[in-house]
Amino acid sequence: MLKLPEQVKVVEVGPRDGLQNETATVDTAVKIELINRLSASGLAVIEATSFVSPLWIPQLADAEQVWAGIEQRQSVAYPVLVPNLRGLERALASGVKQIAVFTAASETFCRNNINCSIDESLARYAPVIRQAREAGIAVRAYISCVLGCPYEGDVDVKRVVDLSRHFIEAGCYEISLGDTIGAGSALQARELVSRVAKQVPVRRLALHFHDTRGQALANILACLELGVSVVDAAVAGLGGCPYARGATGNLATEDLVYMLHGLGIRTGIDIHKLIDSGRFISQALSRENRSKVSLAGVSEYGAVA
Ligand code: HMG
Ligand code: MG
Repeated sequence: MLKLPEQVKVVEVGPRDGLQNETATVDTAVKIELINRLSASGLAVIEATSFVSPLWIPQLADAEQVWAGIEQRQSVAYPVLVPNLRGLERALASGVKQIAVFTAASETFCRNNINCSIDESLARYAPVIRQAREAGIAVRAYISCVLGCPYEGDVDVKRVVDLSRHFIEAGCYEISLGDTIGAGSALQARELVSRVAKQVPVRRLALHFHDTRGQALANILACLELGVSVVDAAVAGLGGCPYARGATGNLATEDLVYMLHGLGIRTGIDIHKLIDSGRFISQALSRENRSKVSLAGVSEYGAVA
């Protein structure tokens, strides 16, 4: 007999995690239009962009412009990724209300992604989290490579547990467990969440499972049965991490919502509007030989001109 949550909070990460991996430069106007369409679909959380170094993620160098351009709804939270105090300063100057910090359970991935060790990342984030909270900003924390690392292979579950507890004690409201390269199986995902949930309340855990091997839905279902009720996904299955070879798309939000609704779980999301958003961005990105993705080639209903 399945014991599942009645409601799941879906965290849409497409505009950030999805677009950060696109090689073609996506126009700011396309990003804004995507977020506005997603906002209209009933999503409660949309990760809008990253205030990271533009040298590392050139695609999201327009974070300020995207943030300023979106039509923000009262009912939607628009967190952004922040890697250091410089990122927090930019986020505060833009009027951001929620941020997310991010580290990894693998040393090599951490070094490749944010150019420091795991311990150094915790030291770097301590003042970020403290100052954000003093400014009334809610902070989420991501842990990458929780079910495998593209450089190191297997990852120590205890490290994931310790990092999760660290971020909760530091004042983060939620821990997003990232299977960055979609390496885990349902059994491993369930075991991991069971272990973490012994140290951190399960309602504070989110699943962020990339779908490299088509395991994400199965893994999520296995963890929903443990009481997890927050899941990240990217519209149209966009995404990946440029610092994790083999990290292909995220789980598609449309597929996640379809499964949840089929299980009788409420999300508050209009799946038709979500599909329209996915169609819009897919068609904007799919122009042949593109070097730049602009609104010019996309009609009102997302058809490429
Ligand atoms: P670094 O090179 O060690 O930093 O990078 P630095 O302090 O030496 O700065 C280098 C340059 O960047 C300087 O510019 C800084 O001013 C600038 P210069 O003076 O040489 O012209 N800089 C910044 N500019 C704007 N905003 C900032 C900022 N910080 C420095 N915030 C750093 C260290 C952390 C900055 C860099 O490694 C970085 O930005 N990394 C981000 C990588 C990233 O965004 N990866 C993808 C997101 S993580 C992910 O996708 C996983 C996730 O989805 C979960 C999962 O799937 O597992 C979350
Ligand atoms: Mg990710």
